[in-house]
Amino acid sequence: MKTIFSGIQPSGSLTLGNYLGAMKQFVELQEDYHCYFCIVDEHAITVPQDRLKLRDNIRSLAALYLASGINPEKATLFIQSEVPAHTQLGWMIQTQSYIGELERMTQFKDKSTGKEAVSSALLTYPPLMTADILLYNTDLVPVGNDQKQHIELTRDLAERFNRKFNDIFTIPEIKVSEVGARIMSLQEPTKKMSKSDDNQKATIFMLDEPKQIEKKIKSAVTDSEGIVRFDPEQKPGISNLMTIMASCTNQSLETIESKYKGIGYGQFKQDTANAVIDLLTPIQTRYQDIVDSMELDDILDKGAEKASFVANKTLAKAKKAMGLGRVKKRK
Ligand code: TYM
Repeated sequence: MKTIFSGIQPSGSLTLGNYLGAMKQFVELQEDYHCYFCIVDEHAITVPQDRLKLRDNIRSLAALYLASGINPEKATLFIQSEVPAHTQLGWMIQTQSYIGELERMTQFKDKSTGKEAVSSALLTYPPLMTADILLYNTDLVPVGNDQKQHIELTRDLAERFNRKFNDIFTIPEIKVSEVGARIMSLQEPTKKMSKSDDNQKATIFMLDEPKQIEKKIKSAVTDSEGIVRFDPEQKPGISNLMTIMASCTNQSLETIESKYKGIGYGQFKQDTANAVIDLLTPIQTRYQDIVDSMELDDILDKGAEKASFVANKTLAKAKKAMGLGRVKKRK
């Protein structure tokens, strides 16, 4: 069975973009793959975090994974900082990465441009992400579109390491959903929907109440043509809402286009809001049952143990390949 690894940062409430671009795929893939899903808290601290909020967000994200349908019997769910091999291999990979290639990462540029104090970890974030993936002999990494560049770099770094030292790492492939890999902001539909958008109306959070969801979708920016037609260039707002509806209801864009022929944006927006609410309400109910349970701690304890077992084996191989540590003398 092939192996999947993916991670989500606990850096705020999860968005509908995180769900449709990543989590939804994870739930489907766990049926056919050996899966590791991670709460990447060490990635989250590359930007300032409030200590208590971070703690809450870690637990909340773990509960959301489960509420969305990740089955701990099938997939290993764990917290990155509870498996020290991640930062250890991350450091080793960092020694093999070049400042130039890290500076070229779009996400680094976006998060650092115009800022006075930029943490060096924001630059060296991709080698840690590479370590996350390589520790589990990962074949496939399901992500949204914005992470593609990081996975391409992961492949380059793994190949570089294999060539230079020993052929120990599996080279992972990227997996991006056909629909939903890039959910856009509701207010500026040429920008991706993001956890950290200053405009609250731009983002639907997975834990938003039905009323809030309805309000946000009804006030989503569209155009004046009045025709529900998929055209991301000319009609980014409507195309984004169509993608959301397609992804929430598993309908094709063509079906939606023909269903709304001659019907105005008002009805289309109302139906899109209902589709999102129908999808998120049962997840929210399960979330409330799980988030404060001891069962959640048991699952995370077991997950960290299982992940450490595999990760430590790969780490030992990589250390040996690089010449770290020592060989003990025998009597
Ligand atoms: P993060 O936490 O920003 O996002 C988690 C996942 O959600 C996807 N995503 C989106 N998909 C569609 N539309 C959107 N608007 C949208 N916003 C976010 C992301 O593409 C991602 O799949 N660096 C990663 C976390 C990470 C990771 C890893 C991922 C750390 N190590 C190893 C894969 C493998 C990140 O910041 O994702």
